[in-house]
This record gives sequence, structure tokens and C-alpha cells, in this order.
Amino acid sequence: MLSNQAGDGKRTSLHGHWSSKMAFVLAVTGSAVGLGNIWKFPYVAGENGGGAFVLVYLACVVAIGMPVMMSEILIGRRGRRNPVATMELLGQEEGSSKHWRYVGLLGVIAGILILSYYSVIAGWTLTYIVKSASGVFVNASTVDVVAELDAFKMNTGQMSLVHTLFMGLTIFVVARGVERGLEQAVKFMVPALLLMMLVLLGYSITSGSFGAGIDFLFTPDFSKLSWGSVLEAMGQAFFTLSIGMGAIMAYGAYLPEETSIMGASATVVAADTAIAILAGLVIFPLVFANGLQPDAGPGLVFQTLPLALGQMPGGAFFSTIFFILLSFAAWTSAIGLIEPGVAWLVEHFNRSRQQSAIIVGGAIWLLGFGSVFSWNIWRDATFFQGTVFDNLDFLTNQLMLPLGGLFIAVFAGWVMCRNSTAEELGGAGPAYSAWRFAARVIAPIGIFIVLFFAIKNVTA
Ligand code: PHE
Repeated sequence: MLSNQAGDGKRTSLHGHWSSKMAFVLAVTGSAVGLGNIWKFPYVAGENGGGAFVLVYLACVVAIGMPVMMSEILIGRRGRRNPVATMELLGQEEGSSKHWRYVGLLGVIAGILILSYYSVIAGWTLTYIVKSASGVFVNASTVDVVAELDAFKMNTGQMSLVHTLFMGLTIFVVARGVERGLEQAVKFMVPALLLMMLVLLGYSITSGSFGAGIDFLFTPDFSKLSWGSVLEAMGQAFFTLSIGMGAIMAYGAYLPEETSIMGASATVVAADTAIAILAGLVIFPLVFANGLQPDAGPGLVFQTLPLALGQMPGGAFFSTIFFILLSFAAWTSAIGLIEPGVAWLVEHFNRSRQQSAIIVGGAIWLLGFGSVFSWNIWRDATFFQGTVFDNLDFLTNQLMLPLGGLFIAVFAGWVMCRNSTAEELGGAGPAYSAWRFAARVIAPIGIFIVLFFAIKNVTA
């Protein structure tokens, strides 16, 4: 195994470092902001009745997401290795056990499983760039956009092709390494996406049923909330913030000493949440104005936005830009999903970055066909939660990420000594105490309770 202990005892990362604090914040934001915000948040909020779900999601982001994110970054920076090796190293260093590495391994596996279906949906966005540009949605009716998506779902060949293309793009960037690959991809995407969402918001305020949309998103109806949807809200908080699987830990390993972890986390959490809420504010007014169903499922964004944009002057152009930006957002998230596995292969098996990216990416690509087929030839081959896609989604978001987050919080809060964490978080103060309380008590207990009741209900 390679060592990353420099002569002066300071650890450095083998994969290079971020060129600035801004670069780190951008990279983590790029990982956080993705399909989770714009594709997933609206549809799971829609399936779970809106308001009450959104409230639980926001509570989870603040009380669990933020402290877990800080824990992940501080663990990553202290270990400066891939998540598996970092957990092993710190486990021993803090006088516990090297078996903490299995938490890292759980994350590597979660990343691989998530990317296998994430890439398929990212492929949909690539397809929708082409469809938009060719004017398919200009003046299309609700029936047209629904039929367009249904036809695409049945097109196994095309979906396989775009999934392959997206995995190729991901492998390409990851193979190039931290500075050259990741940073540049993120720099313009996040601001551009934000701008585009604001333009769309303007449209939905004037042309959608804005009041009905707001009502749906923000008026909590707790009768619609089951333990299952609470778990889904918590899973969504983990997924959208990219936490619980080592992606942020891997990024933290490349973070310079002097950067404030608290400040960086707060920025990322705020940006990510803002984009998700913005997406909801754009989409639900359009759903209600066009007679679509809020619980339409994973196709929601691919129906509402082309429909709305198709009615706008210059719609084909805006729609093309929107799906390009969404593809970029998915791309920068995919990099975070694959990075723990790639960094692990590089360090543990002495592989080159290129080789590792191809090996891990190739495995994910193959697995992805399970999700491609979930929309067509295996559509009726359902078990447990539904199709292969549904099961992967449930297993990763609702079980693996919360479990990973639970272990990470317990590790940072209970296993690591006060001095170590205080040193990483810039000294003891009220903010430090708040973090420590959240990591030791609120996050672990919260995650445990939700997992416990949700699993009890699923199996009852
Ligand atoms: N946060 C990303 C999104 O919202 C998905 C993701 C999860 C990325 C975990 C990296 C790690 O789309």
C-alpha cells in the first residue's frame, strides 16, 4: 500500500489538493447539486404528498445533514486517504479498531450502486438535450410530452447508448485527476444552473398555478406522512447532500489545512437546499397548471419542463440549455459517486488513476443495465420494492446512506477524541459544541429512530 506520510509528519493526499478554498466549496457543491435536487426532490416530494414531507426533509438537512457533512469533511482531511484507508487509520489512531474501514467500504459500494442507476437517468437528460434541440417539444401538449417519455422508456437501445455515453464522460473526468478534471467542470455549472432556475421560476410565477404549487409544497398535511415517507425524506437529505457514503470524505482528503470546515459546509448545504426548493417552486405550479399529477414519479421533470418550455418563446433553445446544465450537474455528482472507489483502488491496489477509473467505471456501467431494463424488458419483473431500479434506490438511499451517516457521526462524535475534532473544526466554541452535540446525540438517535420504525413498518 502507498504511504502518504510526509517527512515532517504532516499527511498529504496522493491525489493532489484543491487549488483554493473556493475550489473545494465548488467541488462539494457540484457533487451535492445534481439530479437529486432537480429530478429527485420534486418527484419524491410529489409522491409523498408535498408539505409535510418537505418539512421533514428540511429538518433532516439541518439537524442531521449538516453535522454529518462536517464530520465527513473533518475525517477526510485528518486521514487524507481514500475513505476505506482513512477510516482504518483514524480508527487505530483514536484507539478504537481498524474495522472502521468497513464503513468506508460500505460507502464505496453505495457509490457504485447509486451511480449504476444515476447514470441511466443522467442518460435521459442527455437524450432530452437532443430532443429539445430538434424542436420535439415546441407547442407540444401534455399528452405529447407524456407519450414522448413513454416511448423513450421502451427504447432499450437508445437508453443503453446514453447510459454508456454518460459513464464514458464520467470515467474520462475522473481519470484526469482532482485538479484538472473535477474543478474545471464545476466552476461555471453551479452559477449557470442557478441562473437558469431563476429564469424558469419567473416563467412558472407568471404562467403556472403558482399558488397551488406553493400550497402543495409548504402546507403540511401530516395525515399523508407515514414512517416510510419520513425515511424517504431522510434518505433524500442524505442523497442530495452527497453524504453517508464517503464522497465528501474523499473530497475532504484534498482540502488544505486552513480552510474552515464549518463555513464550507454551511455554504454547500444552503446552496443545495436552495436549488432543490427552487426546483419544487418551478415544477409544481407547472404540474397544476397543465393537469399533470404531482405523484407522476421519476418522469416528472422530463414531462413538466419540456411542456412548459415548449410553450415559451425560444423554448427549444431554453429547453436545450436546461438539459445541458442538468447533464453537467449530474456529471459533477457522478464524479463524487465514483471517487471513493477509484481512490481506494489507486491506493490499495497500486493501480494508476486511469486504470482504476476504467475498472470501477466499467463495473458500474455493467450494473447499470439492470436499471436500463427496469423501464422496458424487465419492467414487470418486480420484487420487494419494485423493479431493479426501485430496489437499488431503496437499498442505497434509504438504508446504506443513513447507516453510513450513523456510523460516521458516531465515529466523529464518540470515537474521535475532543482534541482531534476541535483541531479540525478550528477550536472549541459554541459552534463546535453545537456540532459535537448534534454528531453525538441528535444525528445518531434521529437516524436510528427513523430506520427502526420504517423497517418495522416495511416488514410488519
Ligand atoms: N448529491 C447528488 C445529487 O443530488 C447525488 C450524490 C450522492 C452524489 C452521493 C455523490 C454522492 O444528485
